Amino acid sequence: MINRFNRLSSILKTAGVDAILINKPESRRYLTGFAGSAGTVLCDCACTYRKLFVDFRYIEQARLQATQWDIVKSVQNSLAEIAVLAGSAGFKRIGFESDFITVDAKAGLDKAFADFELVPIKLADLRKEKDDSEIRIIKTAVEIAESALGKVIKEIRVGVKERDVAISLETYMRKAGADASAFDIIVASGVRSALPHGRASDKLIENGDFITIDFGAYFEGYNSDITRTFVVGKASDKHREVYNTVLEAQLAGVRAVKAGVLNQSVDKVARDYITAAGYGEYFGHGLGHGLGMLVHEAPGLSYAAEAAILQINNIVTVEPGIYIPGFGGVRIEDDVVVKEYGCEILTSFDKRLIEL
Ligand code: GLY
Ligand code: MN
Ligand code: MN
Repeated sequence: MINRFNRLSSILKTAGVDAILINKPESRRYLTGFAGSAGTVLCDCACTYRKLFVDFRYIEQARLQATQWDIVKSVQNSLAEIAVLAGSAGFKRIGFESDFITVDAKAGLDKAFADFELVPIKLADLRKEKDDSEIRIIKTAVEIAESALGKVIKEIRVGVKERDVAISLETYMRKAGADASAFDIIVASGVRSALPHGRASDKLIENGDFITIDFGAYFEGYNSDITRTFVVGKASDKHREVYNTVLEAQLAGVRAVKAGVLNQSVDKVARDYITAAGYGEYFGHGLGHGLGMLVHEAPGLSYAAEAAILQINNIVTVEPGIYIPGFGGVRIEDDVVVKEYGCEILTSFDKRLIEL
């Protein structure tokens, strides 16, 4: 946690605040270890004053998990009580997470903290550089997901429902240790595979379908996020052409990932490949995104993302796709750790075209 406190401290000092209030679940868990769904952090800019306010439901859990924090029992959402303590600690300028709070919650904060100056702060960059323990957990989340995919592809055949594939996948992940699915599993077959986010439906899988499966395991607070596309039955020349174009673009994107490179330029490498192959108009989304406690977090890896230089131990996805309405689509997604001279690929599931 020391390193995490140093990071927070430097953000707070740059913002010139005396302390910060934190409510965002991932910021709270990252800094305290507390995994409960409610609680407020009040922390000074040196990270020596560290209080975690939780209600009756979470006192014991907080004591067990947030061992470096002073646990204070509070009535649910009792900002007034926190303001009194902040006042007696001598805080005047207090930060709050402006990318999380609702309009109503901000009104409540303004009321309770009327005697303070409230300063909007974003903590998105706090978790960009993963530490060894985070990388280990995400690796396990990837292993859980890939072992489940290995089992489920044996069940995919003509006449099986997309929805049943998703249910099986989730069950295998849960049995392998996942706390949950990282997000609603995408199983999109046939013409539905042209929907980049086609959630598993009641459609039956047919011969000659592309089937795109995009899923991940949520494990100890972190996510994996993987996509593979298969062909049911024999792949046609068109299937192979589209698939191989995405695969080459994906490999080129992965090769372009390294510390010191502009995120948008990695997107460009993969996009240029797809465009040169004549499929540019069918690749409409960004190349990838940061991955961690949230499925989508900083840094983005998209032409449309805020410009960012990739740094060692950022974890990002690389996931180009081609989606042709009326025909189908392909996406291939890996999770990679940015390194000095390239990247470490966490996902290892076969990327060659598999006919099921
Ligand atoms: N399914 C969301 C993503 O891959 O980003
Ligand atoms: Mn995905
Ligand atoms: Mn993704």
